[in-house]
Amino acid sequence: MPAIVLVGAQWGDEGKGKATDLIGSSVDYVVKFNGGNNAGHTVVIDGETYALHLLPSGILSPNVTPVIGNGVVVDLAVLFEELDTLQARGIDTSRLVVSANAHLIPSYNRTLDKVTERFLGQRRIGTTGRGIGPTYADKMSRVGLRVQDLFDEKILRQKVEGALDQKNQLLVKVYNRRAVTVDEVVDELMSYADRLRPMVTDTSLLLAGALDEGKVVIMEAGQATLLDVDHGTYPFVTSSNATAGGACTGSGVPPTRVDSVIAVLKAYTTRVGEGPFPTELFGDEGDRLRKAGGEFGTTTGRPRRCGWFDAVIGRYATRINGTTDLVLTKLDVLTGYDPVPVCVAYEVDGVRYDEMPMTQTDFHHAVPVFEYFEGWDDDITGARSMDDLPPAARRYVEAVERLCGAPVSAVGVGPGREEIVAVRDLVR
Ligand code: IMP
Repeated sequence: MPAIVLVGAQWGDEGKGKATDLIGSSVDYVVKFNGGNNAGHTVVIDGETYALHLLPSGILSPNVTPVIGNGVVVDLAVLFEELDTLQARGIDTSRLVVSANAHLIPSYNRTLDKVTERFLGQRRIGTTGRGIGPTYADKMSRVGLRVQDLFDEKILRQKVEGALDQKNQLLVKVYNRRAVTVDEVVDELMSYADRLRPMVTDTSLLLAGALDEGKVVIMEAGQATLLDVDHGTYPFVTSSNATAGGACTGSGVPPTRVDSVIAVLKAYTTRVGEGPFPTELFGDEGDRLRKAGGEFGTTTGRPRRCGWFDAVIGRYATRINGTTDLVLTKLDVLTGYDPVPVCVAYEVDGVRYDEMPMTQTDFHHAVPVFEYFEGWDDDITGARSMDDLPPAARRYVEAVERLCGAPVSAVGVGPGREEIVAVRDLVR
């Protein structure tokens, strides 16, 4: 039975929560495999809006086991805050499991994330300030703290001491901040240990068993393809692998068990934070799209940068992820635009590029080559099949398929759970 990977195809905020939600009734496990509380899913159920940052969106579906995989970085204060908020709204959160190998975000990494951004000035990344980058850096430098360390206080203390030897030098001598004590870090982390313990398990073993039993497992990326630390617009990226390959390393599910890869694409493009964005719209044009799409960050509330659909990126995402299904979201936001521009290639110093330029320098200089599609005025939020869409909207969807090189299996036509055109089953 299928292991399905779900990724974002652009710079994040494509509406992945809605795609998981759409297939929710056939799914047994939803695994978050990368990132931490830098993510933001907004899920609307029966008119109620839920904003999740750290928890997998499967937490809202009663028959799903939500899994925080080994590739995730966990801020324990946020974890319990989100659980408490959901419980207060009557959601049963008792099924959540957390990998013993997931890394913890200690308070000093939140501080370092913010101060390094400040020091970078013009060269800043525009991070969410949640300590994500420093925590992944610690993981790779082998000075990270893991969930399982909470169950051996002596080891935890040794690790915190080792980490603080370096971190305090940085905090005090470079960034002019106060030193952090071993006790304050250990005490804060240990205050969560008892509550966390029952949730912690060997999640890769759990998932292997689940797949053996024929259960359906969805591995859901935080962030998106162009924010992937290897395949994105480095250095303006997050610090983890948000593409399909990351689903395997971040969960322990091997590549040979993955059956399909769903990439979620917005009908236009948005990005938060700094970095190149060839189809970006500025001034009134940007404001109009931002307002129409409600493009303000779930995590930080920052206004998102908005622009036209970029098919070069869409094609790139299909190739990097091995996309088998596209889910096109927020098509309704384009209602009323005529014509609708779509970037089909770039021009860099007079040379046409049909694929992503090899170097970041060229990508920074990429000027979009637009094709103009006929728009539509009719409200499409009631459409439930491709035949319900106005011909121009249908042609737009077909163009996305053709330009990105993968079939569109569902189209989002409004924020509600049911506002979707399902073209073919995502679980096969
Ligand atoms: P970090 O993940 O906080 O280190 O931020 C690195 C970059 O990724 C910044 O440009 C963030 O705005 C961006 N980013 C991180 N998470 C998300 C997300 O869920 N959606 C969109 N952008 C994100």
